[in-house]
Formats: sequence, structure tokens, C-alpha cells
Amino acid sequence: MDKYAKAFVKASLAYLGIGVITGFIMVAHPDLRFTLTRVHTHINLLGFMAMMVYGVGYHILPRFMGRPVYSHRLGNIQVWLANITLIGLSISWILEASLGGVWHTLAILFALGQGVSIFLFIINLWKSMAPPTT
Ligand code: HEM
Ligand code: HEM
Repeated sequence: MDKYAKAFVKASLAYLGIGVITGFIMVAHPDLRFTLTRVHTHINLLGFMAMMVYGVGYHILPRFMGRPVYSHRLGNIQVWLANITLIGLSISWILEASLGGVWHTLAILFALGQGVSIFLFIINLWKSMAPPTT
């Protein structure tokens, strides 16, 4: 398994743990839902679900096609970008709820970075499935 595919699966499992913990915190302290729901949702969906799909997708889909991943370099860049921006976005969303200001700007920047990482996956996997040029 390529290093970045494995890193995505490991990160995904870590986010599942964080997602469940934030879920329990909200069950126990409903007053924190305003601050935490969005973080919980995206840690679970962009962290656990999407990163499991990235990791398993990078490993399995090119093999089903009998072709290598288009760019290992893009995969390596994506694993860092996706994780740094998801953690940054989560922290910014938590602090934006009480402090606003600069945290809102940071949330926008991290959201853009997260969007770029998603497009790296789209391009990389799409190109891995393109017909081979002879
Ligand atoms: C033990 C595990 C979990 C607990 C205790 C939990 C608890 C919660 C709570 C308290 C809310 C807030 C609802 C609100 O503010 O109205 C919520 C929302 C949400 N959770 Fe979880 N959750 C858990 C696991 C998960 C997992 C594994 C996923 C996804 C894979 C997930 C996805 C969501 C989503 C998408 C929302 C937002 C739903 C909406 O728009 O109202 N949760 N969860
Ligand atoms: C760059 C990526 C993304 C950004 C910046 C983003 C941002 C947001 C924002 C600002 C909200 C509104 C929350 C509110 O009303 O308080 C939201 C809601 C939601 N998003 Fe995303 N989103 C992203 C990707 C995704 C993806 C990939 C999924 C699913 C796989 C998803 C699932 C949801 C769900 C279920 C809600 C409604 C529940 C909630 O209020 O937390 N998002 N998102």
C-alpha cells in the first residue's frame, strides 16, 4: 500500500475517534452544539468518511483498472493539505463561534485549502482512469 494511501486510512480512523468524542460531548452538553455541530459533522464526513474513501480509493481503484495512480506526488501533497486544512478549519470554526474576526478569515482560507485538496483527488483519480495513450 502506498504511504499516502495508508496515511489517509490511519487519519480517517483518528477522525472517527474524534467525531465520536465530539458527538458524546454534544449529547452531554447540549449548550455546546452551536459551537461543535459543524466541527463534528465535517470531522466525520471530511475526516472519517472522505479520507477512508481517499485511502481505499487510491489503493484499490487503479488496481481494478490495471493501471498505476496517475501521480504519487499529488497523493502525497493531498494527504498533507487535507489534514492540515481540516484541523485548521475545525479549530477556526470553534474559535470563530466565540471570537469571530480573524478566525472567520482563517476559516475561509482553510476551507479553500480543503477544497483544493478535494480537487487534487478528483484530478488524480480521474487521470488514473483515463485511457492509456499509446
Ligand atoms: C457515538 C457517535 C456519535 C454521537 C454521540 C453523535 C452525536 C451527534 C449530535 C449530538 C449531533 C448534533 C445534532 C444537532 O445539533 O442538532 C450530531 C450531528 C451530526 N452527526 Fe453525529 N454523532 C455520532 C457519530 C456520527 C458519525 C459517525 C457521523 C458520520 C459518519 C455523524 C454525522 C453527523 C451529522 C452529519 C450531523 C449533522 C446532522 C444535522 O444536520 O442535523 N455522527 N451528532
Ligand atoms: C471544503 C469543504 C467544505 C466546507 C468548507 C463546508 C462548509 C459547510 C458549512 C459552512 C456548513 C453550514 C453549517 C451551518 O449551517 O452551521 C456546512 C454544512 C454541512 N456540510 Fe459541509 N462543507 C464542506 C464539505 C462537505 C462535505 C464533503 C460533506 C459531505 C460529505 C459536507 C456535509 C455537510 C452537512 C451534512 C452539513 C449540514 C450539517 C451541519 O450543519 O453541520 N460538507 N458545510
